[in-house]
Parts: sequence; C-alpha cells; structure tokens
Amino acid sequence: MILGIETSCDETSVALLERDGNVRVNLIASQIERHQPFGGVVPEIASREHLQHLFPLVARALADAGAKWEDVESIAVTAGPGLIGALLVGVAGAQGLAYGLGIPIIAVNHLEGHIYSPYLLREGAAIPLPERFLSLVISGGHSSIYDVRGPDVRRINRTRDDAIGETFDKVAKFIGLPYPGGPEIEKHARAGKADPRRFPFPVPQFKDESLDFSYSGIKAGAIRLARQHDVRADGDPATLADFCATFQDALIAQLFDRLDSVWSDIDAPKPTDVAIAGGVAANGVLRDRMLAWGETRGLIVRLPEKRYCTDNAAMIAFAGLQKGSPSDPRRVVARSRIA
Ligand code: KG4
Ligand code: ZN
Repeated sequence: MILGIETSCDETSVALLERDGNVRVNLIASQIERHQPFGGVVPEIASREHLQHLFPLVARALADAGAKWEDVESIAVTAGPGLIGALLVGVAGAQGLAYGLGIPIIAVNHLEGHIYSPYLLREGAAIPLPERFLSLVISGGHSSIYDVRGPDVRRINRTRDDAIGETFDKVAKFIGLPYPGGPEIEKHARAGKADPRRFPFPVPQFKDESLDFSYSGIKAGAIRLARQHDVRADGDPATLADFCATFQDALIAQLFDRLDSVWSDIDAPKPTDVAIAGGVAANGVLRDRMLAWGETRGLIVRLPEKRYCTDNAAMIAFAGLQKGSPSDPRRVVARSRIA
C-alpha cells in the first residue's frame, strides 16, 4: 500500500491506498472550526493543528485498514504549493516515517492531487486514466484548466487575480455568511425561488482574447450590488437568495466562457474526458452544467466524489501512484534506509 499525507492548508489528512488506487482509508481532520472566527485560514494555527493531529491520524489509518507498518511500501506527501509551515509538518513527518521504515518518499504537487482525484472511486480500484483529459482545478487557491496526458500535466490558463473559491469566500464574508463561503452561497441560492437574473452581471472579457480567468471584477461587482440592495446574511431572505444565485451564476458563467475557448483552441486528438476537481467542484449547479456541457460535445464528464473535492490524502497518494513505481529512482525525491 501507499500512505498519503496532506497538510498543505487547513485539513490534516492521511490515507492508505492499494496499488490499483483502491482507497482503503481516507481520514480527514478538518480545522474549519478553529479558523472560522477569523474568516479565513490562520497559517500558524494550521501548522500547530497539523502537528497535533498528524501522527494520531497515521496510527488510526493503519488500525482502520487492519494494516501493519510492513504493508506500507511508499509514502506520498504534499510538498507544495501551500502554507509553508503547514507543508513542513507533513513533509518532515513523512520523512521521519520513511526514514524509520526504510521506504521511499514521493513528493506530490497538491494540484496534481486534485487533477487525478476525479478518477478515484468510493469503493474499489480507480478508473483507468484516459490518454488525454482536460482538468479544471477550481478551489480556494486555484482556478486553472490543465491538459493532462498520463503523468504529463500542462497548464493552459490560470486566474489573473482571485481564485473562484476565494471569490465565493470573500463575497460571502462581506455579506456576513460564515466561512467557507462557497457552500453557504450555494445553499442560499437554492433557497425558495431564487432568481439568478434579478441582478444583471456581465461576464468580463479580455481585449487580448486571453484564456485566463479573472474574478476580481465579479467580486467588486458583487460587493457593489450587495451594498446597493442591502444584501445581508440576516437581512431579507428573498434578496439574499436572488443575490447568491446571481453571483454564483456569474462565477460559473465565466468558467464555461473560458472552457469554450479552450475547447475550440485545443489540438487533435482532442481529450476524451473533461474533469473538475477542487473544493468548488462540490457545487451542485456547476456539476449539472458540466454534465450538460460534456454531453453536447460527446465527452465523458468525470465529477469527483464530494469527499475527494476538498483537500484529502487519498488524492495525494493516488497522484503519487501516477508518478510511477516507487522503485523508479527518477520519481523518488528522498530515499532513507537505516544503516
Ligand atoms: O480544495 P479546497 O478544499 O481547498 C483549497 O485547496 O483551496 O477548496 C476550498 C474552497 C473554498 O473556497 C470553498 O468556499 C469552496 O472550495 N467550496 C465551494 C463549495 N464547497 C467548497 N464553492 C462553491 N460551492 C460549493 N458547494
Ligand atoms: Zn486543494
């Protein structure tokens, strides 16, 4: 089995996967409540929480899987990007374990973790990866489309300013909704007969026909609207619902606007699959639209299980598996063996 460790942000997570991607255990200790009073993640608190939870979680993962230390063949750990103190806890912990066990350690880019996550299943072996797929990584820190061929990942675009999840969170905070804002906005947008067309919201276009995202315009527009119509979490529920639906629609509209351009630009043989990943991929409206988008183009749409949308170690271990056999020296960043 491969042991996965993820500590890049505010979730301490440990997973054990079999070589075929079968997730035996995926444990997540969320710190959301610790950060909620501050309306965002406090890095120092995150590092200390990881320190407290990491090793007990590893012990529990082994116990839950009925596994022994000898069953662990390699360790995949998030090496970046993320909060530096938080990453250090995970990497140092993984190094200590790898040293003690005399097994290889595989450094995983957090984004690669998200990218392959839609191919993990709730039970059983993972779905075999297609030759080529498009991946939209949409989270609190990232909004990018990737062109993925096996272990080769090419970024096609990025956001010029805020990430889509960050925009959800900031606007939610402005109107007094708790952190994280994405699920809150979705919940209120679903309430009653929310009208997503009550407030007009243009999709920002770039003069240079860039494929990039830009969410700061939508953020500023949303804040202006909220002020104008006195939208508050504890205000008029119908106005709140209409506002949330309008704002959510604007964010999603831009995603598809750029995806359309990427799709028409991409060379043949075109990808057979389109996948979404990251915290925002849990959004129900977005998931439905993605299915429809793929269907009209004859594509397979891969939506990650909601448990694999937010940060988790199963996806890190799975990305570690894509990096080849643990015995392949090119893939291993550190190999320790007790003399
Ligand atoms: O991937 P993730 O757990 O952490 C990062 O690596 O950023 O993503 C967290 C982000 C937050 O911004 C949160 O508001 C957003 O994902 N999110 C959602 C939903 N669930 C989580 N955004 C929109 N709709 C949701 N249902
Ligand atoms: Zn993430």
